[in-house]
Amino acid sequence: IQDLNRPQLIDFSKVGSSALGFITIAEKLPFEIKRVYWTYYAPHEVIRGHHAHKVLRQVIFSVSGIIKFEIENTSGEKLSFVLDSPEVGLYIPKLHWRRMQFSHNAVLLCLASEPYTEEDYIRDYDSFKRWI
Ligand code: TYD
Repeated sequence: IQDLNRPQLIDFSKVGSSALGFITIAEKLPFEIKRVYWTYYAPHEVIRGHHAHKVLRQVIFSVSGIIKFEIENTSGEKLSFVLDSPEVGLYIPKLHWRRMQFSHNAVLLCLASEPYTEEDYIRDYDSFKRWI
């Protein structure tokens, strides 16, 4: 990871072969994992997300299917990412608004730096844009 304040793709690489199958290992992360969750059966027509986190940082995988992300920082810079490989993670720093769209078979796996608390969410876009 080069800049911990910027969303970026991380290549975790894989061991194995197409003959036998693959394993991807997440051992060196920029934070200690406090929570793991996965999201699935999200209809393609639905845009999920619509929030930012005050403190939480994440590395997100699409372990199956394709997930498209639009990530915006508090300065209004937008970045788009497509997760379509189980060996590539998307690092999302704190204070980044995210919108994501799943392919019908997609399974999102999130490694998170904090336990769940609704207090950490910014769910109002205007307050996010005003966040210092
Ligand atoms: P949310 O993070 O808003 O989902 P997404 O970003 O995929 O749209 O979470 C959806 C709901 O699930 C919300 O009511 C909070 C709840 N939730 C928990 O209770 N614990 C958790 O660890 C997570 C990730 C969500």
